[in-house]
Amino acid sequence: MALTLIALTNFFYFGLTLKESIFYIFCLYILIKALKLLYFFYKIFIRERKNLKGEYGSNTWALVTGATEGIGKAFCEELAIAGFNIILVSRTEDKLAKVACEIREINPEVKVSIIPFNFAEKTCSDQYINSFNEIMDYDISILVNNVGITMKDKFENLSFEEINSYIDLNITPQTMMTKLLFSTTLKRDKKSAIINISSTASNVAAPNRFSLYGATKSFNDYLSLGLGKDTNYKSKIDFMCVKPMMVESFQTNYKANGITVITAKQCVTGSLNCLGYDVSTFGHWIHQIQGNLLTLVPEEMFLFLTSFIVMIMKKNKTK
Ligand SMILES: NC(=O)c1ccc[n+]([C@@H]2O[C@H](COP(=O)([O-])OP(=O)(O)OC[C@H]3O[C@@H](n4cnc5c(N)ncnc54)[C@H](OP(=O)(O)O)[C@@H]3O)[C@@H](O)[C@H]2O)c1
Repeated sequence: MALTLIALTNFFYFGLTLKESIFYIFCLYILIKALKLLYFFYKIFIRERKNLKGEYGSNTWALVTGATEGIGKAFCEELAIAGFNIILVSRTEDKLAKVACEIREINPEVKVSIIPFNFAEKTCSDQYINSFNEIMDYDISILVNNVGITMKDKFENLSFEEINSYIDLNITPQTMMTKLLFSTTLKRDKKSAIINISSTASNVAAPNRFSLYGATKSFNDYLSLGLGKDTNYKSKIDFMCVKPMMVESFQTNYKANGITVITAKQCVTGSLNCLGYDVSTFGHWIHQIQGNLLTLVPEEMFLFLTSFIVMIMKKNKTK
């Protein structure tokens, strides 16, 4: 649209011929693409991670949901290494206790707290308020909204209960946890961060097993983008939505291979490198390349593409 306007201006205002206008527009188009590519390489290979403690405060807490496995656990480990005290939130109490011990071993300097909370069973505001009441006076500087359910099957094959669980686990926890901590984060002297874990499936409306999953995950992206754009919050909270592709985890059973599937640690390291810079990111550079390539695929090819991705997913499953 902008390029068409410039072409018309060249044509009518500067008196260039149509051929000359098209040539200059083409050059401009190539220049814009080249600059975008350069910025992309700068972002993934040169830009340095922000000093997280400096940004969000030392001796503060990071709260991570879905903290005992996969991406959530890797966030806890990486943030503990960075010096944050950790609040682990998940469903299973003995797994929480075990991961809490592991975190204390990784960094004995940090404090670790656990909150057993089943997001599938507790969905109303009172249950959230009561269960998290004990940590409301902690100085929580980073919230990682990670808990979520991954894609299972085509819409027609999902039961009503399964459909419900997509909403209960992919939409409600991120919204409620954000609301729960929102006013306290706004009152902090330092900035805070709210990281919402979405998925590349949120980037496009896609068929196959991606439709319901992608729809719930695009909610995560829009919540971050919308809140992140609000000038009232911008100076106080860094919102970031992470949209990974395939990550080795308990839920997915994928095996990392360094090309199509990455480890949870890689996913988290790549994501934290983007914190404070990007409101929406594919995270690790491998996923950034994959995600950007996906945006070039024409809509007509989505059915073929999603079937191809499902095939890769099945191939990378360990069981
Ligand atoms: N892995 C991927 O390829 C991938 C790709 C894109 C996006 N994502 C997203 O990344 C997030 C994490 O996925 P993941 O693959 O790392 O998962 P995961 O390894 O299966 O871990 C899930 C975590 O969530 C907890 N959890 C599950 N159900 C819960 C419930 N009802 N209430 C409280 N906690 C519950 C589990 O705790 P318990 O041990 O107590 O069950 C576990 O700690 C999800 O939002 C997912 O959609 C994953």
